[in-house]
Amino acid sequence: MITIRDIANLALVSTATVSHVVNSTAYVSPELRKRVVAAIRDLRYQPSALARSLRTKQTKTVGMIIPDITNPFFPQVVRGAEDLLLQEGYTLIVGNSDGETRKEEGYYRTFCAKQVDGLLLVIAPAARAPEYLRRHNLEAIPVVYIDRFHRGLRGDGVIVDNVGGSYQAVCHLLDCGHRRIGTITGPLQLLNARMRLEGYRRAFVQHHLNVDSNLIREGRFDSQSGYDQTKGLLGLRDRPTALFVCNALMTIGSLRALTDSGVRCPEEMALVSFDDLEWFDLLRPSISAVAQPAYDLGAKAAEILVKRFSGRLTGGSHRKVLETKLVVRDSSNWHREADVEHNRLRGRPGSPQWSNPQS
Ligand code: RIB
Repeated sequence: MITIRDIANLALVSTATVSHVVNSTAYVSPELRKRVVAAIRDLRYQPSALARSLRTKQTKTVGMIIPDITNPFFPQVVRGAEDLLLQEGYTLIVGNSDGETRKEEGYYRTFCAKQVDGLLLVIAPAARAPEYLRRHNLEAIPVVYIDRFHRGLRGDGVIVDNVGGSYQAVCHLLDCGHRRIGTITGPLQLLNARMRLEGYRRAFVQHHLNVDSNLIREGRFDSQSGYDQTKGLLGLRDRPTALFVCNALMTIGSLRALTDSGVRCPEEMALVSFDDLEWFDLLRPSISAVAQPAYDLGAKAAEILVKRFSGRLTGGSHRKVLETKLVVRDSSNWHREADVEHNRLRGRPGSPQWSNPQS
Protein backbone atom coordinates (compact mmCIF):
# COMPACT_ATOMS: atom_id res chain seq x y z
CA MET A 1 0.00 0.00 0.00
CA ILE A 2 1.35 3.44 -0.94
CA THR A 3 2.03 5.65 2.10
CA ILE A 4 2.78 9.35 2.52
CA ARG A 5 6.42 8.37 3.08
CA ASP A 6 6.51 6.95 -0.49
CA ILE A 7 5.03 10.22 -1.76
CA ALA A 8 7.56 12.26 0.26
CA ASN A 9 10.50 10.23 -1.09
CA LEU A 10 9.37 10.60 -4.69
CA ALA A 11 8.60 14.32 -4.33
CA LEU A 12 11.76 14.95 -2.28
CA VAL A 13 9.80 16.64 0.53
CA SER A 14 9.04 15.80 4.15
CA THR A 15 6.06 13.66 5.16
CA ALA A 16 4.72 16.73 6.99
CA THR A 17 4.62 18.62 3.68
CA VAL A 18 2.71 15.74 2.05
CA SER A 19 0.26 15.71 4.99
CA HIS A 20 -0.28 19.49 4.71
CA VAL A 21 -1.07 19.15 0.99
CA VAL A 22 -3.43 16.18 1.51
CA ASN A 23 -5.27 17.73 4.50
CA SER A 24 -4.98 21.45 3.58
CA THR A 25 -3.73 22.02 7.12
CA ALA A 26 -0.96 24.53 6.29
CA TYR A 27 0.50 26.63 3.44
CA VAL A 28 2.74 24.77 1.00
CA SER A 29 4.64 26.64 -1.74
CA PRO A 30 3.33 26.12 -5.30
CA GLU A 31 6.62 24.43 -6.31
CA LEU A 32 6.50 21.84 -3.47
CA ARG A 33 2.72 21.39 -3.88
CA LYS A 34 3.22 20.64 -7.58
CA ARG A 35 5.84 17.96 -6.78
CA VAL A 36 3.58 16.35 -4.15
CA VAL A 37 0.52 16.34 -6.45
CA ALA A 38 2.60 14.79 -9.27
CA ALA A 39 3.89 12.07 -6.92
CA ILE A 40 0.34 11.32 -5.67
CA ARG A 41 -0.83 10.99 -9.27
CA ASP A 42 2.12 8.84 -10.39
CA LEU A 43 1.81 6.46 -7.41
CA ARG A 44 -2.04 6.52 -7.47
CA TYR A 45 -2.06 7.34 -3.77
CA GLN A 46 -5.46 7.15 -1.93
CA PRO A 47 -5.31 9.13 1.38
CA SER A 48 -6.61 7.03 4.27
CA ALA A 49 -9.85 8.59 5.53
CA LEU A 50 -9.45 6.64 8.75
CA ALA A 51 -5.89 7.90 9.26
CA ARG A 52 -7.02 11.44 8.55
CA SER A 53 -9.90 11.23 10.97
CA LEU A 54 -7.58 9.97 13.73
CA ARG A 55 -5.37 12.99 13.15
CA THR A 56 -8.04 15.67 12.67
CA LYS A 57 -10.62 14.12 15.02
CA GLN A 58 -13.10 14.65 12.17
CA THR A 59 -14.61 12.17 9.74
CA LYS A 60 -16.17 14.89 7.55
CA THR A 61 -19.37 12.88 7.56
CA VAL A 62 -22.89 13.70 8.78
CA GLY A 63 -25.61 11.19 9.64
CA MET A 64 -29.22 11.99 8.73
CA ILE A 65 -32.25 10.02 9.94
CA ILE A 66 -35.61 10.55 8.23
CA PRO A 67 -38.87 8.58 8.45
CA ASP A 68 -39.07 7.38 4.82
CA ILE A 69 -37.27 8.53 1.66
CA THR A 70 -40.18 7.17 -0.43
CA ASN A 71 -42.43 9.84 1.09
CA PRO A 72 -42.29 12.57 -1.60
CA PHE A 73 -41.75 15.26 1.01
CA PHE A 74 -38.32 14.04 2.18
CA PRO A 75 -36.15 13.79 -0.97
CA GLN A 76 -36.06 17.58 -1.25
CA VAL A 77 -35.14 17.90 2.43
CA VAL A 78 -32.29 15.39 2.02
CA ARG A 79 -31.08 17.04 -1.18
CA GLY A 80 -30.98 20.46 0.46
CA ALA A 81 -28.83 19.11 3.28
CA GLU A 82 -26.57 17.10 0.97
CA ASP A 83 -25.85 20.00 -1.41
CA LEU A 84 -24.88 22.34 1.43
CA LEU A 85 -22.72 19.74 3.18
CA LEU A 86 -20.92 18.75 -0.03
CA GLN A 87 -19.95 22.39 -0.61
CA GLU A 88 -18.35 22.31 2.84
CA GLY A 89 -16.50 19.04 2.20
CA TYR A 90 -18.85 16.75 4.17
CA THR A 91 -20.43 13.48 3.09
CA LEU A 92 -24.04 12.77 4.05
CA ILE A 93 -25.21 9.29 5.09
CA VAL A 94 -28.99 8.77 5.29
CA GLY A 95 -31.02 6.19 7.24
CA ASN A 96 -34.81 5.55 7.20
CA SER A 97 -36.46 5.07 10.59
CA ASP A 98 -39.90 4.12 9.16
CA GLY A 99 -41.24 6.41 11.88
CA GLU A 100 -40.13 3.90 14.54
CA THR A 101 -38.08 5.04 17.54
CA ARG A 102 -36.40 1.62 17.72
CA LYS A 103 -35.01 1.94 14.15
CA GLU A 104 -34.22 5.61 14.72
CA GLU A 105 -32.09 4.69 17.76
CA GLY A 106 -30.41 1.93 15.74
CA TYR A 107 -29.21 4.40 13.14
CA TYR A 108 -28.26 6.86 15.87
CA ARG A 109 -25.94 4.26 17.43
CA THR A 110 -24.49 3.30 14.04
CA PHE A 111 -23.73 6.91 13.15
CA CYS A 112 -22.17 7.57 16.57
CA ALA A 113 -20.02 4.45 16.19
CA LYS A 114 -18.87 5.76 12.81
CA GLN A 115 -18.01 8.99 14.63
CA VAL A 116 -20.04 11.26 12.36
CA ASP A 117 -19.31 14.91 13.03
CA GLY A 118 -23.00 15.81 13.33
CA LEU A 119 -26.59 14.53 13.10
CA LEU A 120 -29.66 15.75 11.25
CA LEU A 121 -32.85 14.24 12.69
CA VAL A 122 -36.45 14.11 11.50
CA ILE A 123 -37.77 12.34 14.59
CA ALA A 124 -40.27 9.50 14.74
CA PRO A 125 -43.55 10.05 16.63
CA ALA A 126 -43.09 9.37 20.37
CA ALA A 127 -45.05 10.30 23.51
CA ARG A 128 -41.83 11.83 24.94
CA ALA A 129 -38.25 12.31 23.84
CA PRO A 130 -36.55 8.88 23.81
CA GLU A 131 -33.92 8.18 26.47
CA TYR A 132 -31.03 8.06 24.00
CA LEU A 133 -31.78 11.61 22.81
CA ARG A 134 -32.23 12.92 26.33
CA ARG A 135 -28.80 11.46 27.23
CA HIS A 136 -27.09 12.61 24.01
CA ASN A 137 -24.01 14.85 24.46
CA LEU A 138 -24.55 17.76 22.05
CA GLU A 139 -21.02 19.04 22.67
CA ALA A 140 -19.62 15.77 21.32
CA ILE A 141 -21.92 15.48 18.29
CA PRO A 142 -24.16 18.47 17.47
CA VAL A 143 -27.74 17.63 16.45
CA VAL A 144 -30.10 19.70 14.30
CA TYR A 145 -33.77 18.68 14.31
CA ILE A 146 -35.65 19.17 11.07
CA ASP A 147 -39.41 19.61 10.59
CA ARG A 148 -40.33 18.49 14.10
CA PHE A 149 -38.66 18.22 17.51
CA HIS A 150 -39.42 17.08 21.05
CA ARG A 151 -40.53 19.86 23.39
CA GLY A 152 -38.03 20.44 26.19
CA LEU A 153 -35.12 18.78 24.37
CA ARG A 154 -32.00 20.88 23.70
CA GLY A 155 -30.63 20.99 20.17
CA ASP A 156 -30.87 23.24 17.13
CA GLY A 157 -33.88 23.00 14.87
CA VAL A 158 -35.42 24.17 11.60
CA ILE A 159 -39.19 23.88 11.14
CA VAL A 160 -41.89 25.66 9.15
CA ASP A 161 -44.66 27.87 10.51
CA ASN A 162 -47.12 24.99 10.84
CA VAL A 163 -49.69 27.04 12.77
CA GLY A 164 -49.60 29.95 10.32
CA GLY A 165 -49.74 27.71 7.25
CA SER A 166 -52.72 25.76 8.54
CA TYR A 167 -54.48 28.90 9.77
CA GLN A 168 -54.20 30.46 6.30
CA ALA A 169 -55.48 27.31 4.57
CA VAL A 170 -58.55 26.96 6.81
CA CYS A 171 -59.32 30.70 6.66
CA HIS A 172 -59.32 30.32 2.88
CA LEU A 173 -61.94 27.56 3.11
CA LEU A 174 -63.99 29.58 5.61
CA ASP A 175 -63.80 32.62 3.34
CA CYS A 176 -65.11 30.42 0.51
CA GLY A 177 -68.23 29.90 2.63
CA HIS A 178 -67.50 26.47 4.13
CA ARG A 179 -68.53 25.97 7.73
CA ARG A 180 -68.33 22.18 8.04
CA ILE A 181 -64.58 21.66 7.45
CA GLY A 182 -63.13 18.28 8.32
CA THR A 183 -59.44 17.90 9.09
CA ILE A 184 -57.19 14.82 9.05
CA THR A 185 -54.21 15.45 11.29
CA GLY A 186 -50.81 13.77 11.42
CA PRO A 187 -49.86 11.64 14.44
CA LEU A 188 -50.61 13.98 17.34
CA GLN A 189 -47.53 12.76 19.20
CA LEU A 190 -45.66 14.93 16.71
CA LEU A 191 -45.39 18.61 17.52
CA ASN A 192 -45.85 19.70 13.91
CA ALA A 193 -49.11 17.71 13.66
CA ARG A 194 -50.37 19.40 16.84
CA MET A 195 -49.32 22.80 15.47
CA ARG A 196 -51.25 22.21 12.24
CA LEU A 197 -54.35 21.31 14.27
CA GLU A 198 -53.82 24.48 16.32
CA GLY A 199 -53.84 26.52 13.08
CA TYR A 200 -57.14 24.85 12.13
CA ARG A 201 -58.67 25.73 15.50
CA ARG A 202 -57.41 29.35 15.42
CA ALA A 203 -59.04 29.91 12.02
CA PHE A 204 -62.45 28.98 13.46
CA VAL A 205 -61.89 31.18 16.51
CA GLN A 206 -60.92 34.06 14.23
CA HIS A 207 -64.24 33.59 12.39
CA HIS A 208 -66.17 33.36 15.71
CA LEU A 209 -67.19 29.80 14.92
CA ASN A 210 -67.16 26.72 17.10
CA VAL A 211 -65.10 23.67 16.22
CA ASP A 212 -66.98 20.37 15.89
CA SER A 213 -64.62 17.73 17.30
CA ASN A 214 -66.39 15.10 15.15
CA LEU A 215 -64.74 16.75 12.17
CA ILE A 216 -61.22 16.23 13.56
CA ARG A 217 -59.71 12.86 12.69
CA GLU A 218 -56.16 11.72 13.54
CA GLY A 219 -54.14 10.16 10.71
CA ARG A 220 -50.65 8.69 10.44
CA PHE A 221 -49.17 10.86 7.69
CA ASP A 222 -49.73 7.94 5.25
CA SER A 223 -52.17 7.48 2.37
CA GLN A 224 -54.16 4.64 4.00
CA SER A 225 -55.06 6.72 7.04
CA GLY A 226 -56.03 9.57 4.69
CA TYR A 227 -58.36 7.15 2.87
CA ASP A 228 -59.87 5.64 6.02
CA GLN A 229 -60.46 8.94 7.80
CA THR A 230 -62.02 10.52 4.71
CA LYS A 231 -64.43 7.59 4.45
CA GLY A 232 -65.23 8.12 8.12
CA LEU A 233 -66.00 11.81 7.58
CA LEU A 234 -68.12 11.01 4.52
CA GLY A 235 -70.16 8.68 6.69
CA LEU A 236 -71.27 11.50 9.01
CA ARG A 237 -74.95 12.41 8.78
CA ASP A 238 -73.96 16.07 8.56
CA ARG A 239 -70.80 15.49 6.58
CA PRO A 240 -68.30 18.29 5.86
CA THR A 241 -68.27 20.27 2.61
CA ALA A 242 -64.48 20.76 2.77
CA LEU A 243 -61.39 18.90 3.96
CA PHE A 244 -58.07 20.19 5.28
CA VAL A 245 -55.64 17.25 5.06
CA CYS A 246 -52.37 17.70 6.95
CA ASN A 247 -49.87 16.09 4.60
CA ALA A 248 -49.52 15.07 0.99
CA LEU A 249 -49.67 11.30 1.44
CA MET A 250 -52.93 11.52 3.39
CA THR A 251 -54.25 13.88 0.70
CA ILE A 252 -53.62 11.21 -1.92
CA GLY A 253 -55.55 8.71 0.20
CA SER A 254 -58.33 11.24 0.74
CA LEU A 255 -58.70 11.88 -3.01
CA ARG A 256 -58.90 8.13 -3.58
CA ALA A 257 -61.67 7.88 -0.97
CA LEU A 258 -63.63 10.70 -2.61
CA THR A 259 -63.31 9.02 -6.00
CA ASP A 260 -64.34 5.60 -4.62
CA SER A 261 -67.34 7.23 -2.96
CA GLY A 262 -68.38 9.12 -6.09
CA VAL A 263 -67.97 12.45 -4.27
CA ARG A 264 -66.94 15.20 -6.69
CA CYS A 265 -64.12 17.59 -5.71
CA PRO A 266 -64.64 20.51 -5.33
CA GLU A 267 -68.32 20.44 -6.34
CA GLU A 268 -69.31 18.34 -3.31
CA MET A 269 -66.09 18.39 -1.28
CA ALA A 270 -63.45 21.12 -1.42
CA LEU A 271 -59.95 20.14 -0.34
CA VAL A 272 -56.69 21.77 0.76
CA SER A 273 -53.53 19.79 1.51
CA PHE A 274 -50.66 20.67 3.86
CA ASP A 275 -47.60 19.92 1.68
CA ASP A 276 -47.55 20.69 -1.98
CA LEU A 277 -46.27 18.23 -4.58
CA GLU A 278 -44.93 19.17 -7.97
CA TRP A 279 -47.71 17.29 -9.79
CA PHE A 280 -50.63 18.60 -7.70
CA ASP A 281 -51.32 21.16 -10.41
CA LEU A 282 -51.50 18.38 -13.02
CA LEU A 283 -54.40 16.60 -11.28
CA ARG A 284 -57.99 17.46 -12.17
CA PRO A 285 -59.02 19.29 -10.16
CA SER A 286 -55.63 20.76 -9.40
CA ILE A 287 -55.01 20.53 -5.66
CA SER A 288 -54.77 23.57 -3.36
CA ALA A 289 -51.90 23.17 -0.91
CA VAL A 290 -49.75 24.74 1.77
CA ALA A 291 -46.28 24.58 0.23
CA GLN A 292 -43.33 23.94 2.54
CA PRO A 293 -39.78 25.01 1.53
CA ALA A 294 -38.58 21.40 1.88
CA TYR A 295 -35.20 21.93 0.18
CA ASP A 296 -34.49 24.96 2.37
CA LEU A 297 -35.42 23.01 5.50
CA GLY A 298 -32.56 20.61 4.74
CA ALA A 299 -30.12 23.29 3.58
CA LYS A 300 -30.72 25.58 6.58
CA ALA A 301 -30.35 22.66 8.99
CA ALA A 302 -27.05 21.66 7.38
CA GLU A 303 -25.89 25.27 7.49
CA ILE A 304 -26.48 25.41 11.25
CA LEU A 305 -24.56 22.15 11.67
CA VAL A 306 -21.56 23.42 9.71
CA LYS A 307 -21.54 26.61 11.81
CA ARG A 308 -21.48 24.42 14.92
CA PHE A 309 -18.49 22.48 13.51
CA SER A 310 -16.51 25.66 12.87
CA GLY A 311 -17.45 27.33 16.15
CA ARG A 312 -19.26 30.14 14.33
CA LEU A 313 -22.38 29.12 16.24
CA THR A 314 -22.09 28.47 19.96
CA GLY A 315 -24.32 28.42 23.01
CA GLY A 316 -27.95 27.32 23.41
CA SER A 317 -30.38 25.85 20.92
CA HIS A 318 -30.70 27.79 17.69
CA ARG A 319 -34.17 27.49 16.14
CA LYS A 320 -35.28 28.73 12.70
CA VAL A 321 -38.89 28.92 11.47
CA LEU A 322 -39.41 29.08 7.70
CA GLU A 323 -42.51 30.50 6.02
CA THR A 324 -45.04 28.38 4.13
CA LYS A 325 -47.09 29.51 1.13
CA LEU A 326 -50.75 28.78 0.36
CA VAL A 327 -51.19 27.81 -3.30
CA VAL A 328 -54.90 28.09 -4.20
CA ARG A 329 -55.90 25.82 -7.10
CA ASP A 330 -59.20 24.35 -8.32
CA SER A 331 -59.81 21.88 -5.47
CA SER A 332 -60.84 24.77 -3.22
CA ASN A 333 -61.30 27.78 -5.42
CA TRP A 334 -65.10 27.92 -5.30
CA HIS A 335 -67.37 30.27 -3.39
CA ARG A 336 -70.37 28.71 -1.69
CA GLU A 337 -72.33 31.91 -1.08
CA ALA A 338 -72.32 32.83 -4.75
CA ASP A 339 -73.56 29.38 -5.58
CA VAL A 340 -76.23 29.30 -2.92
CA GLU A 341 -77.47 32.73 -4.03
CA HIS A 342 -77.23 31.59 -7.65
CA ASN A 343 -79.32 28.48 -6.97
CA ARG A 344 -81.83 30.39 -4.83
CA LEU A 345 -82.54 32.76 -7.71
CA ARG A 346 -82.98 29.80 -10.06
CA GLY A 347 -85.05 27.90 -7.49
CA ARG A 348 -82.75 24.93 -7.93
CA PRO A 349 -83.63 22.20 -5.32
CA GLY A 350 -81.34 19.82 -3.42
CA SER A 351 -77.71 20.20 -2.42
CA PRO A 352 -76.30 23.33 -3.97
CA GLN A 353 -74.37 22.80 -7.15
CA TRP A 354 -71.12 24.64 -7.36
CA SER A 355 -70.47 27.45 -9.76
CA ASN A 356 -66.93 28.44 -10.47
CA PRO A 357 -66.86 32.22 -9.87
CA GLN A 358 -64.39 32.48 -12.69
CA SER A 359 -66.85 31.09 -15.28
O1 RIB B 1 -45.45 13.75 4.66
C1 RIB B 1 -44.49 14.04 5.59
C2 RIB B 1 -44.97 15.04 6.55
O2 RIB B 1 -44.20 14.83 7.65
C3 RIB B 1 -44.77 16.44 6.03
O3 RIB B 1 -45.91 17.22 6.22
C4 RIB B 1 -43.64 16.95 6.83
O4 RIB B 1 -43.91 18.19 7.44
C5 RIB B 1 -43.37 15.89 7.85
O5 RIB B 1 -43.71 16.30 9.12
